[in-house]
Amino acid sequence: MIVTIDGPAGTGKSSVARMLADRLGFEFLNTGAMYRAVAYACLQRQLDLASEQAVGDVAHSLEIFFSNNRLLLGNEDVTEAIRGQEVTQSASIVAANPVVRKRLVELQRIVGQGTNLVTEGRDQGTIVFPNAECKFFLTASPEERARRRQRELLQKGEQISLEELLEQQKLRDLRDETRACSPLKPAPNAVVIDTTQMTLVHVASHLEQLVQQACPAALPR
Ligand code: DC
Repeated sequence: MIVTIDGPAGTGKSSVARMLADRLGFEFLNTGAMYRAVAYACLQRQLDLASEQAVGDVAHSLEIFFSNNRLLLGNEDVTEAIRGQEVTQSASIVAANPVVRKRLVELQRIVGQGTNLVTEGRDQGTIVFPNAECKFFLTASPEERARRRQRELLQKGEQISLEELLEQQKLRDLRDETRACSPLKPAPNAVVIDTTQMTLVHVASHLEQLVQQACPAALPR
């Protein structure tokens, strides 16, 4: 059984998807981390991110693994390195590259084969798993999303003004929503949930209930 959670950054997708996967006893897939990993590898190689083929070649050559909630690129643990500001901005450029998307979608479908999975990203319900049993699309106001990002960065010692974060967020949203290949949008049969006024635990409980109502027979015993 596949549960998809899509939506823009700062809607609590990753934390909620992880909590939901734990509660249901499902695997968890963070597909944003995969785009970030490709961006990180391109930055390391000082590639021109606009070069579709060179960036696509990197995506094909990388060995990306998740292990115990860590993201490994070959032998290198890049879990923290991919969360910085430069990778965040670069990931949204790399994510518009159709060669990269094709490769990562292939890998995501392999992860989803024959397993119970909660997967989160931008295109999980629309493109990667169109037949998923349960689809969610999380939203939140731009201000609240930027505040959440500011708190996340502060915890890592990075101080950035809300205005700057809002500007960056606007640019990334625009890129994610208007790219030709798999633009960010809810699947027609996704349940849309506004998380602005909700805690992450509250959102996870709500989704758990909806999954149980929608697919009681499909849940593992
Ligand atoms: O969710 P995130 O911020 O870690 O995602 C990083 C970037 O990757 C972001 O610009 C959106 C993009 N992305 C995507 O295009 N498709 C996905 N399935 C996941 C993320």
